[in-house]
Amino acid sequence: MKALVLSGGSGTRLRPVSHALPKQLVPLANRPLLAHVLRGVRDLGITEVGMVVGDHATQIRQALGDGAEHGVTITYLPQDAPRGLAHAVRVARPYLGDDDFLLHLGDNLLPDGLGDGAAEFRRRGGGAHLLVQKVADPRPYGVVELDGDGRVVRLVEKPRRPRSDLALIGACFLTPAIHSAVDAIRPSARGELELTDAVQWLVDQGVIVRATEYAGYWRDIADSEDVLAGNRRLLATIEAVRGGDVDPFSVVGPRVHIEPGARVVRSHLAGPAIVGAGSVIEDSRVGAYTAIGRDCVIRGSELSGSVVMDGARISGVIRLTDSIIGRAAEVGCGDRQAGYRIVSGDHSRIEVPG
Ligand code: DAU
Repeated sequence: MKALVLSGGSGTRLRPVSHALPKQLVPLANRPLLAHVLRGVRDLGITEVGMVVGDHATQIRQALGDGAEHGVTITYLPQDAPRGLAHAVRVARPYLGDDDFLLHLGDNLLPDGLGDGAAEFRRRGGGAHLLVQKVADPRPYGVVELDGDGRVVRLVEKPRRPRSDLALIGACFLTPAIHSAVDAIRPSARGELELTDAVQWLVDQGVIVRATEYAGYWRDIADSEDVLAGNRRLLATIEAVRGGDVDPFSVVGPRVHIEPGARVVRSHLAGPAIVGAGSVIEDSRVGAYTAIGRDCVIRGSELSGSVVMDGARISGVIRLTDSIIGRAAEVGCGDRQAGYRIVSGDHSRIEVPG
């Protein structure tokens, strides 16, 4: 079985971060989202990965290379524009040939893996096997209706009035039957070739399509709240590593990962947290669920629940919380009388105490 990972698209809801970085490369617990995706793929024993890429192809290639570091072989499949998930499958057809494949969206975090879904697909067969999860508001998702036997009877993409609370999660198992379906459907009202329409076409042809409820953690990383939540979820299971240098005046909690070459000076790292290689933490407090990238400098500051990307510098800032600080960004403390001074990029979001 191969895997097809979809990493085209634009990620506008994650601006300003996505101006410079495709959402699929946003770091969660110091690793790009796609590294977590590839881990899930490799854990199923799949080593051949087709990666559909769009405008951000160069950055994604630079980050993942040929995939060797992640234990897989990546073939990049350029898509001219984000014309829909089913269109991406069409682009990948020559690569996929007559193989079954795992379709995995490149912006979906599934850290508990896909082992149960894969086993169910192998055991029960069928033309496609979907994974669904109950959600409070299914409207932003593909919505699936099942019969009592777990067979899919209807799928609708982002319905205004959902007829079930089962959302399609960003991974499913497909057979070559999907290729005829992709060729048969027309673009939807929003102008995309929808995967939901392709699978509905299979159902209408009498092909057996089943779905199972996914019991693990699932998050579609679409906006900044998703980044912070995904980061929290990954840090919750982080193991202690003492790769760097911690001075005797510092206190480090049990679930803190310090990468080689990092320095901790007169600081308290409560954790769960990760500190990237080459970063310096001085006279600071790092609270729960904080990921600090590589080569950052944190001085005289207190932060928690945040994602700090490579090369960022934070100094003299107290109670920085639930924040995303971009690469090489600077957050500092100026003259108390002067008021707030901000140099922000397009679509930035800044909250100051009211
Ligand atoms: O997260 C689960 C949901 O993902 C499902 O419930 C929906 O049925 C499914 O359509 C999808 O909805 P999204 O609106 O979240 O899809 P998005 O446009 O964000 O694209 C998902 C991934 O696929 C993302 O990594 C970008 C990539 N993509 C998207 C399109 C439209 C492509 O590679 N090519 C494309 O043409």
